[in-house]
Amino acid sequence: MARKGVGITITQHMLQQQRENPEATGGFTTLLNELIVAAKVISREVNKAGLADILGATGRTNVQEEQVQKLDVFANSVIIERMQHVGQLCCMGSEENADLIEIPSEYPKGNYIIVFDPLDGSSNIDVNVSIGTIFGIYKKKSDETNIDMLMNDVLQPGVNQVAAGYFIYGSSSMMVYTTGNGTGVHGFTLYPSVGEFLLSHENIRIPERGKIYSVNEGNDVFWDEKTLSLVNYFKARDKGSGRPYTSRYIGSLVADFHRNLLKGGIFMYPADNKDPNKPTGKLRLMVEANPLALVVKEAGGYASDGNRPILDIQPKEFHQRVPLYIGSREDVALAEDVISGRKDLT
Ligand code: AHG
Ligand code: MN
Ligand code: MN
Repeated sequence: MARKGVGITITQHMLQQQRENPEATGGFTTLLNELIVAAKVISREVNKAGLADILGATGRTNVQEEQVQKLDVFANSVIIERMQHVGQLCCMGSEENADLIEIPSEYPKGNYIIVFDPLDGSSNIDVNVSIGTIFGIYKKKSDETNIDMLMNDVLQPGVNQVAAGYFIYGSSSMMVYTTGNGTGVHGFTLYPSVGEFLLSHENIRIPERGKIYSVNEGNDVFWDEKTLSLVNYFKARDKGSGRPYTSRYIGSLVADFHRNLLKGGIFMYPADNKDPNKPTGKLRLMVEANPLALVVKEAGGYASDGNRPILDIQPKEFHQRVPLYIGSREDVALAEDVISGRKDLT
């Protein structure tokens, strides 16, 4: 039996979605296609990182005062270079850039905004653990063109994202994304021999409740009583509710999130008093929490800051951090009840 073609490519899938969307102009598909090229380039570097001189720290710190790895810088520059010429963007926002990134004057501009974490899980680059890229896409609201004024168009609640997703560079490279509005979450695996992302996980749904909890317990001395009671709840023995849950935490948000999306479970990065500059924990609202919150919602899950839906938060500044509870709906709803004080587990 002759082998069929290659299956459904990401381009075919996006064109199908474009045809089903009356307002689609094709600009969005062009934008996403170039982002995919950037991901393929990053994936190639990640896979040969052990060989090339692309490992290790640059010796610099970024706007977040964090060690910048060479691969962070590389991934950031590849995405910016691929995105800036497409003619669909008014600006970009990156975890690695203090300010918004302008579209050079030689290129046409458009009405989309892309925000991204070019390389997530940097601490895992040198130890061959899965890392990723996270992105969210918005539509500009105003007819502003001045880069100094565009921040108001960028700081939109995550519910306004017209698309969001991530790439994960691991044993295989995958792209998982959604265009919101009930279009579902779809996963594509990169076939290096073909150089294409092919549909491998159609309409991903996260189990209502999981059996995995993911949190860095090395921070528990910095947590408040409510956070401790919540984590201890997942660790307590109770046959009826399938507890204790299994602990799985690898230190790459994209890898931890992806596993829990497929298997069910809750990922937590609580507020802690470890660093007075980061009282709401380490993860960023715009480039980490919001994109994954849209993905998990479209897959039937939920994401909260411990008091309300992540997607409802009106951002105040681009690099603001937020506590994150994300994954299976029932587990995250419990977390929100406990952290908000509506439910007392102590
Ligand atoms: P980034 O590499 O983009 O800075 O993100 C790292 C984040 C996230 O990937 C992960 O969940 C978290 O840092 C791990 O933080 P801890 O090491 O404090 O647990
Ligand atoms: Mn990150
Ligand atoms: Mn990063």
